[in-house]
Amino acid sequence: MKITMVGTGYVGLVTGTCFAEIGHEVLCVDNDERKIRTLQSRRMPIYEEGLEELVLRNMDRGRLRFTTSIAEGTDFAEVIFIAVGTPPGYHGEPNLSYVEQVGRQVAHHMTGYRLLVEKSTVPVNTGIQLKRTVTKYLREKVDFDVASNPEFLREGSAVHDAFHPDRIVVGVESERAARLLREIYEPIIARSNSW
Ligand SMILES: NC(=O)c1ccc[n+]([C@@H]2O[C@H](COP(=O)([O-])OP(=O)(O)OC[C@H]3O[C@@H](n4cnc5c(N)ncnc54)[C@H](O)[C@@H]3O)[C@@H](O)[C@H]2O)c1
Repeated sequence: MKITMVGTGYVGLVTGTCFAEIGHEVLCVDNDERKIRTLQSRRMPIYEEGLEELVLRNMDRGRLRFTTSIAEGTDFAEVIFIAVGTPPGYHGEPNLSYVEQVGRQVAHHMTGYRLLVEKSTVPVNTGIQLKRTVTKYLREKVDFDVASNPEFLREGSAVHDAFHPDRIVVGVESERAARLLREIYEPIIARSNSW
C-alpha cells in the first residue's frame, strides 16, 4: 500500500522505513530541507542500529523516497501519517502547532479521500481538533477520516521496536479507516506471531 509519512524524525524515519521493509511504498515528507537532502544523498540524520542498511535497501528497491513537498505527499497516498514533533512547553504541555500546521497543509492539497493518522504523542481530543482544522482548510468537499495510532518505540532500540511492537494501538471512526490500518500492520502482526 502507498503511505505518506509527514515528519521524518526519529519516529517518522524509523516507522516509514519499517513500513517500506514490510512491502509498502513509502514517501517521507519533512520541511527540514537539510534533513531531506541528507537522506536523498543516502546519509542518515540519526543513528539507530540497523537503520542505515534498511533505508538504503528500500531506497534501492524504490519503496522509500524523501521529499520536502507536502503537496506531493498529500497526492501520493490515501493514508497520511503525522509524525511531527510535539515538544513540551514551559508547563510540560505539548506544543501541537506542528500537528495543526500539517493538518492545514494537507487540507489545502486534498482532492480525494484521505486517512490522516496521528502518530505523534498528543493529548486526548487532539483528533477532534485536527478534524476541525482539516474541515476548515479544505478547498473542495472531500471525505476524510482522522485516526489515532500512537508510537511507543524507544530511541536506541527503535528499529527492533518498530518490527516487534508489544502493542499496536489504533483509534478509528470508520470501517474504511480500520481496514486501511489493518492492511498496513498485518505483515508486522504476522511476523510477530511467527516468532
Ligand atoms: N523519539 C522517540 O523516541 C518517540 C517515541 C514515541 C513517540 N514519540 C513522539 O513522536 C513524535 C515525533 O517525535 P520524533 O522524536 O520523531 O521528533 P523529531 O523532532 O525527531 O522529528 C520531527 C520531524 O518533524 C518535522 N516537521 C515539523 N513540522 C513539520 C511540517 N509542518 N511538515 C513536515 N515536517 C515537519 C521536523 O523537521 C522533524 O524532522 C512526537 O510527538 C514524540 O513525542 C517520539
